[in-house]
Amino acid sequence: MNIRTVTKLAASAAVIALTAGAVKAEESVEVLHWWTSGGEAAALNVLKENLQKEGISWQDMPVAGGSGVQAMTALRARVTSGDPPTAVQMLGFDIKEWAEMGVLGNLNDLANEQGWDKVIPAALQDFSKYEGNWIAAPVNVHSTNWLWLSKAALDKAGGKTPETFDELIALLDKFKEQGLVPLAHGGQPWQDGTLWESVVLSVGGMDFYKKAVIDADTEALSGDTMRTVFDNMTKLRGYFDPNFSGRDWNLSTALVIEGKAGAQQMGDWSKGEWLRADKKPGTDFVCIRFPGTQGSVLFNSDQFVMFDVGEEKRNAQLKMASAVEDPAFQIAFNTVKGSVPARTDVPDTEFDDCGKKGMKDLADAASGGTLAGSLAHGHAQPSAVKEAVFDVVTQHLNGQLTTDQALERLPKAIAAAQ
Ligand code: GAL
Repeated sequence: MNIRTVTKLAASAAVIALTAGAVKAEESVEVLHWWTSGGEAAALNVLKENLQKEGISWQDMPVAGGSGVQAMTALRARVTSGDPPTAVQMLGFDIKEWAEMGVLGNLNDLANEQGWDKVIPAALQDFSKYEGNWIAAPVNVHSTNWLWLSKAALDKAGGKTPETFDELIALLDKFKEQGLVPLAHGGQPWQDGTLWESVVLSVGGMDFYKKAVIDADTEALSGDTMRTVFDNMTKLRGYFDPNFSGRDWNLSTALVIEGKAGAQQMGDWSKGEWLRADKKPGTDFVCIRFPGTQGSVLFNSDQFVMFDVGEEKRNAQLKMASAVEDPAFQIAFNTVKGSVPARTDVPDTEFDDCGKKGMKDLADAASGGTLAGSLAHGHAQPSAVKEAVFDVVTQHLNGQLTTDQALERLPKAIAAAQ
C-alpha cells in the first residue's frame, strides 16, 4: 500500500467517522400521515419548519388517502415488522386500538409539566389518554357537518343560505339550472360516510344521531327516521356529476373553487383548499352547517400518536409533542388547515369567520350536550363498525341496495362487526 492510498483511506475513514457523528447528533422524527392535499401539506409544513428550527429533521412518510384508511394499513405493516415510526397521525378509536396493543410511548411527564389536563377538552382527552396515561398529542379539532358553497353561485341563486334539507334541495336545483354540478361529491366509502352522518344528524337531530350511531340501537338503525335518511341520500345522489366515483375529496373542492360546482358537503379540512387557492370566506365561499344540523357538531381530532421508539429517539419525540401543543403553533397550523385548536385557551382573533364560527360552535355544543364524535372519522365507533356502516351506505348510494335492503342490513352489519 503506497502512501497515497493510505492517506486516501485515512481521509475516507475520517469522513465516515464525521458522518456517523453527524447522524448521531442530528435528532429526527419520522412521521406517518395522510396530509397530502395542498391545504393539508401547507399546514403540516408549519410543524416541519418549527421542528427544523429546533434542529430536528423531518422524515416524511405520507400515505395518501382521505380519512387515513390507507395510512392505517401502512402503519400495521411497519409495526408488525417491529419498526414503528416516531409519530403517527391518527383518529379516535384507532388510537384506542393501538394503545390496547401496548406499543405506544408515554407522554405523562411532558403533559404534566405543561398542564395539558387543564387546556385539552375532555372529549379529546378521551382519545389522547389510555388507562390514565397520555399517549398522543392532539393537533386540532375538525368538524364534519359543514356545507361549502360557491359565493358566486349562491348569489346568483338569490343569496339565501339553506336552513333545511328541503331548502338545500331547492338550492341544488337552482345550481343545476345554472349549468353547474350541484353537489360535488367524491364516491369513496369514507366520503359517502361523511355525507351520510350529516344527513343522519339533519333528519333526526343529535339525540337520534347518538341513539343510532353512538349506541347502535337496532330500532333507530332500521326505523322510519333512518328510512328518511336513506331516501335523502338517494335525493342527493341525483345532484352528483357522472364522474363522482372514486374522486378524491380535494378534487371535488377544486370543482367548487373553479366555479364548476355549486357546493360540497365536507369536513372543514376543505377550507384549507380554499385558502390555499387564495380564496376568502364571505367573498369567494360560504361555510354553513349542513342544513338541519345547526347547533350540533360532529367532531374529529387529528392526534399525533407517539410510539414506543426507545431512548434514542425519545427526546425528538417529546420535542415534537411539545411543539404540537404550543399555543402559537395551534394558531399557525389550524388557521391554515381549516380546523380549530385542540386547546381551549387559544384566542380566536387570528381565525377567519369560518374558524371563529367553528370555535364558537364547538364550545357551545360541548356545553349544550350537542357534541358527538364523527363516525366517518373514527370518533364514534371502532374501525370495524365504521367500515360495516360504510359498506351499507356506499352500496345503497351506488344503487346496489334498495332502501329496504339498507335498513335491513345496517343493524346486522354493525352487530356482526361489534
Ligand atoms: C380527516 C382528517 C383531516 C383530513 C381529512 C381528509 O380524517 O381528520 O385532517 O386530513 O381526513 O384527508
